[in-house]
Amino acid sequence: MKFLYSYYILTIATLLIVVRCSASKSCSRNSTDEFANSHVGLIISPMLSSSEIRRIEIYWTHANLQSGDVIALYDEEPREVATALYSFEPHTINGILKTRLQADFVPTSNLTFERQCLKYHVAWLRNGVIRKTNCLETRPNWLAQRKSTLGSARIRDLFLPGTHDSVSYSIVQSPTNDNIIDKYVIAQDEDVLAQLIYGIRYLDIRVGYYPLLNQVWWGNHGIVNVVPLQTIINDLKIFLNNTEEIVIFDVQEFPIGFGSDLSIHHKLVAYLEKQLGDYLLPKSYGWSTTLDNIWASGKRLIIGYDQSSVVPLYNSIWPCVTHQWGNVRSVSALYTYLNRIETAAMSSLVVNPRSAMAQMTPNTWDVILDRLGGLRKMANDVNINVTTWYATKWHNSANIVAVDFFKGSGIIETSIEWNDKRFSSC
Ligand SMILES: *[C@@H]1O[C@H](CO)[C@@H](O)[C@H](O)[C@H]1NC(C)=O
Ligand SMILES: *[C@@H]1O[C@H](CO)[C@@H](O)[C@H](O)[C@H]1NC(C)=O
Ligand SMILES: *[C@@H]1O[C@H](CO)[C@@H](O)[C@H](O)[C@H]1NC(C)=O
Ligand SMILES: *[C@@H]1O[C@H](CO)[C@@H](O)[C@H](O)[C@H]1NC(C)=O
Repeated sequence: MKFLYSYYILTIATLLIVVRCSASKSCSRNSTDEFANSHVGLIISPMLSSSEIRRIEIYWTHANLQSGDVIALYDEEPREVATALYSFEPHTINGILKTRLQADFVPTSNLTFERQCLKYHVAWLRNGVIRKTNCLETRPNWLAQRKSTLGSARIRDLFLPGTHDSVSYSIVQSPTNDNIIDKYVIAQDEDVLAQLIYGIRYLDIRVGYYPLLNQVWWGNHGIVNVVPLQTIINDLKIFLNNTEEIVIFDVQEFPIGFGSDLSIHHKLVAYLEKQLGDYLLPKSYGWSTTLDNIWASGKRLIIGYDQSSVVPLYNSIWPCVTHQWGNVRSVSALYTYLNRIETAAMSSLVVNPRSAMAQMTPNTWDVILDRLGGLRKMANDVNINVTTWYATKWHNSANIVAVDFFKGSGIIETSIEWNDKRFSSC
């Protein structure tokens, strides 16, 4: 490795043309390897009923698939001789296949702060030879492991996976029928610590104030209080204590208890400062700061705050991330909306980060009449399309992309993969 570095430095010093060659050599892309830009991955379906939970789904993209190619699922490291749990022949260049297999329930306490495969693996075989593999995995250190390539980037330059309504989660272990409230309230199936360990770096936090309850601050979804804010904050501290990752905690909406005067906002900011003061990156760094500057500061938490008359009063809270909402009710309308914002982003010079809210939005009658089938079904309907669009069309413009039921999308591995390509001059 040392040898390689001095080789590069020497080359740079002497011959520019040689630098070009070695730079392209250092890229892992192999133009003669048709698997280099292909993808095969595992996701967990958000669908829940009395007979179904955590179904394993396999998704793929392969521009040069050949007839006779096989995709196989394993509960161990794939080897040609290992027995697959399930296998099939893909017939389209991208697609998704839902198996009838149920993934094990993995409690957050089983997750570690090291990258780990969680039992299931998938492989692409051609002529009986494994050509590409992947596993269901956690990515707790992905940013810090890329300090050398991502250090000079700003948040706006990265492709970051986020959760929408990060605090509206419910941990369900066994098959059950959702009630109508949960159907439109629950948007995630992992707690915030697990979301971060899996690789999410943007949290969309809705806070409600309940002066008469024992816990006054809650993580809400609309008017429903779901989890005490203290639980979310504890998870955040545990994660930041055990990693070198950078996290955006974006406080949005204030749906209950804030009224029109700002006094409750001052209380909330005081609470956040007391709880998270040791972790907070001061706003004076600004959104144009680089990740290297953030790491050098030792403070890796950015709190965005969606109240523009309160933000200027404190150095602890930042202008919030711009949420980009399509307010759409179909997959094709979501495509049209996202295509518009991603195209516009290519020529935008704004440094404040933005989050593409990659989900459909039910209107009141949709909820009352249960017309779209609930948030689980709505996420299931769009998540793989969103993943494929971002993996194949908008990888250069993508900034934050926030999804519901994130394990049902491939947005984490897609964003990591594309940051590697964006920042390795390939
Ligand atoms: C590139 O891919 C081809 C086909 O898979 C393989 O034969 C070749 O060894 C690869 N070259 C490098 C440098 O990895
Ligand atoms: C979780 O950890 C416990 C205790 O180490 C272990 O018995 C169990 O098998 C683990 N579950 C999974 C799904 O990994
Ligand atoms: C985080 O680390 C600090 C400093 O080591 C320690 O005081 C604190 O108790 C830790 N908090 C959690 C939630 O682990
Ligand atoms: C969404 O994905 C499915 C499965 O890959 C595909 O059949 C469908 O055409 C996609 N829809 C849109 C609007 O791209």
